[in-house]
Order: sequence, then structure tokens, then C-alpha cells
Amino acid sequence: MIDETALILSIRPLAQGYQVLTLAAPAIAAEAKPGQFVHVRVPSLDAARLRRPFSIYDADPVTGRLHILYKTVGLGTRHLAALPVGTELPVLGPIGRPFPLNPEGIPYLIGGGYGVAPLWFLASRLPRKGILFVGGRTAADILETDRFEEAGWEVRIATQDGSRGTMGLVTAPLDAALADKPQAELYACGPDGMLRAVGERAIAAGIKGWLSLDKHMVCGVGACLACVQKIRREDGADVLARVCVDGPVFESREIVW
Ligand SMILES: Cc1cc2nc3c(=O)[nH]c(=O)nc-3n(C[C@H](O)[C@H](O)[C@H](O)COP(=O)(O)OP(=O)(O)OC[C@H]3O[C@@H](n4cnc5c(N)ncnc54)[C@H](O)[C@@H]3O)c2cc1C
Ligand code: FES
Repeated sequence: MIDETALILSIRPLAQGYQVLTLAAPAIAAEAKPGQFVHVRVPSLDAARLRRPFSIYDADPVTGRLHILYKTVGLGTRHLAALPVGTELPVLGPIGRPFPLNPEGIPYLIGGGYGVAPLWFLASRLPRKGILFVGGRTAADILETDRFEEAGWEVRIATQDGSRGTMGLVTAPLDAALADKPQAELYACGPDGMLRAVGERAIAAGIKGWLSLDKHMVCGVGACLACVQKIRREDGADVLARVCVDGPVFESREIVW
């Protein structure tokens, strides 16, 4: 894990409170793997304040650029959104257990809201293309799907209010695809309810389902136990894992909800 002072190179606003931040962070970009995250200290907050975790949206070891896609939800992200280009940002990373990159079947990526962020990095590194299933409350939560389509991925969208794609939950188009082509491997990032539903489908279909958990974090480095999740080991014992360093990616069968 690297402690690097990154520089904000550009800020790209997306819909309603979402934006993409491009950082110069060559040391972290060189090591980053899909599914890992960075822990960012927002300099305009009091130094005693906690860092905030964000998935790595993209990383280029050649240019040294690192991208995060985030939503403004509270104090830390409000302060982050107010920082101009040229600000130095203390960043720890890359942290955590990444997604595996050798799917046994067609990769089905399932994202909700900013959960699409690690899935883009994953899509760009997987050896084969598949389908992105993306869900949100409304059309404004459906982010960056053009990039997946341009890269040759099929995209299926569901919104709860029907303002984009089919009306309802993202599990509906996923169920249809699983009924059609069950030889898939699932990769998901989003709210717990969605992850749990995806995990249940992976187990029922007898396929792998990799879930990236979104837990409140404090230290981000395995020391404080703020982020624990009960998991079941291969020997059947239930133990507490730290999502920051033992995850954030777990296989569906490991998680005890
Ligand atoms: C491994 C990991 C990867 C993440 N990746 C991204 C990402 O790529 N893009 C992104 O926008 N966000 C991501 N998050 C969530 C992000 O860390 C939080 O939204 C952020 O820390 C909120 O900080 P804040 O100070 O603005 O909000 P706070 O003032 O701390 O909280 C504001 C509101 O947000 C809620 N909140 C705080 N932390 C989380 C969280 N971890 N998950 C859900 N709700 C939370 C609080 O309950 C509260 O309702 C990720 C979280 C984890 C654990
Ligand atoms: S956030 Fe401290 S142990 Fe995970």
C-alpha cells in the first residue's frame, strides 16, 4: 500500500451530484487492480477527520493517471467536490482484494449507482466481453454506459421509476439473461440489497458471484475493525473479516448476510 500525494488534474461533472476526478498518482496507478480502492484525505477537512474510501474507476500505469467516480452525499464528498484542479490530495492505496480476472463463463457485471465505477476498470481488464446490467432509482443514476458500449459490452438498464431502460430492479434483466445463458460469472458492486440478490442468484445457478461490499470504513488499513463482515470459511467456520483488507471483494458463498 502506497501513501502518495496525488494532484487533481481534471474534474468531469456527470449527472446530479456525480463526478469523475482524474488524479496524477503514478505510484498507485502502477499497482492498481480492478476492485481495489483508494482512501482519500480531503485536505480542507480538519486533519483529524477520517479519510474516505473510493473504488478505483480507472488507472493507467503508463500515464500515471488514476480516476475515481463519486457521488456527493455528505461532508467529506461536499468538501472534495469544492476542490479545484491543481489541489494536492493525500491518497492511500491501492487497498484490498481485487476481482479475479479469469471468468469461467460470460462475465455479467451488475452495478448500482456509483457501483459502476470498479466495474469499468474490471471491464477494461477482463479477457472477454460480456454484459453490463446497471440499475438505479432514476435515469440520473445510470452512469457512463456509453463507455461500456463503445468497448463492445452489451448494456441492459433498469430504473425503479422507468425513466431509463426497463422499469424495476436490475435483477429482472439479470434473471432473463441467466435463464437464456446460464454459463456466466457474476461481478457486482452496489447497495447491500442488490449484492445479496445477485449472490443468491449465483448460488442458485451454481456459478461464481463476486461481490464488492460497501461498508463504512475508518482506518481503511485493517487496524480498527470498523468494517467487519461475517464470512464463512471453506472449513465451515464463521469468522469476522475486515472488508477493507480481506475484501472488499468476496465470493457469494463466503458472505453470511
Ligand atoms: C470500498 C468502498 C468503495 C467505495 N467506492 C465509492 C465510489 O467509487 N464512489 C462513491 O461515490 N462512493 C464510494 N464509496 C462510498 C463513499 O466512501 C462514501 O459515500 C463517502 O465516504 C461518504 O463520505 P461523506 O463524508 O461525504 O459522507 P458522510 O457525511 O460520512 O455520510 C453522508 C451519508 O452517506 C452515508 N455513507 C457514508 N459512507 C458510506 C458508505 N461507505 N456507503 C454508503 N453510504 C455511506 C452515510 O450513512 C450518510 O447517510 C465507497 C465505499 C467503500 C467502502
Ligand atoms: S476500516 Fe479499519 S479495519 Fe477496516
